[in-house]
Amino acid sequence: MKRVITYGTFDLLHYGHINLLKSAKEQGDYLIVALSTDEFNWNEKNKKNYFSYEKRKQLLESVRYVDLVIPEKNWNQKVTDMERYYIDTFVMGDDWLGKFDETLAATGVNVVYLSRTPEVSTTQIKNDLYAQEGIK
Ligand code: CTP
Repeated sequence: MKRVITYGTFDLLHYGHINLLKSAKEQGDYLIVALSTDEFNWNEKNKKNYFSYEKRKQLLESVRYVDLVIPEKNWNQKVTDMERYYIDTFVMGDDWLGKFDETLAATGVNVVYLSRTPEVSTTQIKNDLYAQEGIK
């Protein structure tokens, strides 16, 4: 059984996320999503999520391509996660192209960057809704 892992925030789950999860699952048989905690997002990315970790986790767990959701609490856990979860393939969207090659080289996992779905992003959704405020 080939085990795949991907990392992200997945706030306001949208079709770009679903495409990524579907393609990630197609890389193997079992997909783990390491989901950024609220603390990690705030402390490391200066980002406040709209949905809490528990809500984002609940949404991801109801997606057919996702087998397990674990917390992403810091930048350094990737190497240990590869061993702990017996990962074969690490997947990220290509906004991260090349970023993890060096870190993960010693683990021997395949590192795959998938094309992002054009146009949609959580930030874009938030900005569009904000710009429309007052228009119903
Ligand atoms: N992703 C994707 N296509 C999109 C948006 C996201 O393939 N249109 C992928 C990212 O490349 C990443 C995963 O989905 O591998 C989770 O991305 P995340 O950063 O949580 O989503 P974004 O919509 O990019 O959020 P933000 O705007 O806050 O960066």
